[in-house]
Amino acid sequence: MLSFHRPFGLAPMAGLTDTAFRRLVKRQGGCGLVVTEMVSSEGLVRGLDRTLEYAEFTEEERPVAVQVFGGDPERMALAARVVERIGADAVDVNMGCPVPKVAKGLAGCSLMRDPGRAAAIVEAMAQAVSIPVTVKMRTGWDERGVNAADLARRLERAGAAAVTVHGRTAAQGYRGRADWDEIGRVARAVSIPVLGNGDLVEPGDLVRRMEETGVAGVLVGRGAVANPWIFAQAEAIAAGRPVAAVPAEARRRFLLDYIDMLLDDRRDEPPGFRHSPVSKPQRAAGRARERLVVNKLRALCAWHTRGLHGGSHLRVAVNRADSVAALRDAIAASFA
Ligand SMILES: Cc1cc2nc3c(=O)[nH]c(=O)nc-3n(C[C@H](O)[C@H](O)[C@H](O)COP(=O)(O)O)c2cc1C
Repeated sequence: MLSFHRPFGLAPMAGLTDTAFRRLVKRQGGCGLVVTEMVSSEGLVRGLDRTLEYAEFTEEERPVAVQVFGGDPERMALAARVVERIGADAVDVNMGCPVPKVAKGLAGCSLMRDPGRAAAIVEAMAQAVSIPVTVKMRTGWDERGVNAADLARRLERAGAAAVTVHGRTAAQGYRGRADWDEIGRVARAVSIPVLGNGDLVEPGDLVRRMEETGVAGVLVGRGAVANPWIFAQAEAIAAGRPVAAVPAEARRRFLLDYIDMLLDDRRDEPPGFRHSPVSKPQRAAGRARERLVVNKLRALCAWHTRGLHGGSHLRVAVNRADSVAALRDAIAASFA
């Protein structure tokens, strides 16, 4: 059984919810579960450094689920073993990604059109590992193919420990509104925990949607990138406490800490060069890391600044910055 003592979790978001971001979100309080960015089952099975890096997590993130995508039951079972070996608390199967690169290979949301394969994958994984196997899906492939409740029932029989439903079809992408009625139908169709997901933007949304639909919990994606304090605020609302406003200093600190944590994460530098005088390979690795940090901050700020007073100013300034020093200046100026 997947156990988490708080019903609010951070949804997986490729390019955004890396280990540094997940740690920072946990530190703001109220978040009971985090999920890694999706990682390729093939990459895990072959032990590709890049894939293993995406699957990395730290103790303070627990409980943490590693999300895997793939379409082959045997390879997915092997990937689940890798996830178990690296010590994750759960392995989550991506059945929601509509991106052609993933969905073309019988993986991601394509699995919702092939319930037999989807069940075979979950069954093979559940037999291969003792950690919980969970699934994140959409409501269906398209408007005429809404089948989340049926599929959830089938996956429950196959051994799934919990299911998350993003209330949109694959055809919708991110358009329209998440269909929480359908999420509620899935929650009533199975006895395993169902987590709802989609369009939770205000902290009160988390509490209200849980009450309205009877889901066991919710995952928050973009709303948590815009407001990493959303979980603590929702917890306050659920407990009948007033919601504290987030001081500008906390927002500034969040962004600066994220930069520091990304910089501190020096896995891509050759270990032998870490403490030696600056060498050529070290300089090259330093430049690559700097580029990564700049790109990460741009991706984060695209969502983080939404609805924020002075947000567009910060977004433009971060987009203009092309070095870590310029990023820090941009953030300092925006919060001055
Ligand atoms: C940039 C981005 C990347 C995403 N990557 C993943 C992913 O790797 N795995 C996954 O299951 N869902 C992924 N999603 C979907 C989210 O987990 C979530 O289902 C969706 O954004 C709806 O929830 P929200 O309205 O709270 O953002 C991604 C969404 C975004 C915006």
